[in-house]
Amino acid sequence: MSMRTAGIILTFTLFIACGVASVFSSDTGVRTREAISPLEPAPALDPHKITLGEELFQDPILSGKNQLSCSACHDLDVGGTARMPRTVGYSGRLHRYNAPTIFNVANNYRLGWRGNFTSLEKQNEVVLLDPDLMASDWPTLLGKLRHSRYAPLFERAYAEEPSRDTVLDALVTYQKTLVTPNSRFDRYLKGEADILTSQEMRGYQLFKDLGCVSCHQGSNIGGNLFQVFGIFSRPQPNTDPSYDGDLGRFTITHADADIGVFRVPSLRNVGLTAPYFHDGRSATLADAVDVMAKSQLGEEIQKADIDAIVSFLNTLTGEYKGLPLKAKK
Ligand code: HEC
Ligand code: HEC
Repeated sequence: MSMRTAGIILTFTLFIACGVASVFSSDTGVRTREAISPLEPAPALDPHKITLGEELFQDPILSGKNQLSCSACHDLDVGGTARMPRTVGYSGRLHRYNAPTIFNVANNYRLGWRGNFTSLEKQNEVVLLDPDLMASDWPTLLGKLRHSRYAPLFERAYAEEPSRDTVLDALVTYQKTLVTPNSRFDRYLKGEADILTSQEMRGYQLFKDLGCVSCHQGSNIGGNLFQVFGIFSRPQPNTDPSYDGDLGRFTITHADADIGVFRVPSLRNVGLTAPYFHDGRSATLADAVDVMAKSQLGEEIQKADIDAIVSFLNTLTGEYKGLPLKAKK
């Protein structure tokens, strides 16, 4: 069985497993089935909780030494991430992994490159308490918040003083609103048949024909499967002998079957979130597409095809608060 057939069969199985968006093509008048579905707008949540969560997210008060905010590594102005291969933690040590974008995070079924968390609350708490991330502890953090300008904001949003549950709830409520609908590709899916250029359409067709869509699908175009990085050829390993990040889920489960297994990342806004992969090894999207074709599909693809796929991937950039996300200079 060729890989392409395997890809198609896998795609087909996923269609059945995940439910599919129906798309009406005004060109042909035919309803086709797509493995990618448009993003729904942000849910309507309590505005006081959202505002409080937003302020907390941007405030270094959450960190042990009042020096590091969530937005330092998940900057909404640069695609919800940090422009570096791997971020540096509190103690100055390089993290194992690249900081993923915080946009559309609530649509991922698992969190982290190794998919080790199923709930945002749990993941956020680990970040807050991790000595190499925010290096906080609850008694100190709650003490600081209770004696700060936040006290009335908690009162307004929760009618109680800051607590572990309300801090996490405010942060998570805010993160649930970080949705970027209305990308040009979403508008295409919703029926604006002519919105994509022929180059972008060719890229989308390649994305489907090659089998990229068998792993990157659903409303986040990823975020809902575990896969080996390097099914056909092992991607270049990291040259630092002390680095174990390439082992992926194995570092958590210690099961041989999990060596090199990662959560398939979302490709929403991927045009803005360079560098790519778990260790930020690819500086450009073109390089990332080339690596994927070789390592995941066993395909050597021509530059013109890579360019077309990159054009398609750039149509996945959405809007936040009604404005298109941009790469800040
Ligand atoms: C010093 C940099 C840094 C700071 C500060 C930081 N993060 Fe992260 N964040 C990361 C890295 C690196 C990862 C990936 C970790 C992994 O996969 O193991 C991550 C992952 C995440 C994820 C999972 C995203 C996904 O798609 O899987 C969420 C959610 C998140 N962070 C939220 C937060 C919140 C909330 C804060 C503040 C309380 C915060 N982060 C502070 C670097 C940072
Ligand atoms: C068999 C599953 C699978 C297939 C097929 C696949 N990918 Fe991936 N993709 C992954 C995994 C897993 C990762 C994360 C790898 C890592 O960094 O460890 C990834 C990462 C990426 C990234 C980097 C995203 C980021 O934020 O760092 C891009 C871009 C990408 N894929 C595009 C593609 C394209 C284009 C194709 C088709 C040519 C493709 N993928 C085919 C599983 C797949």
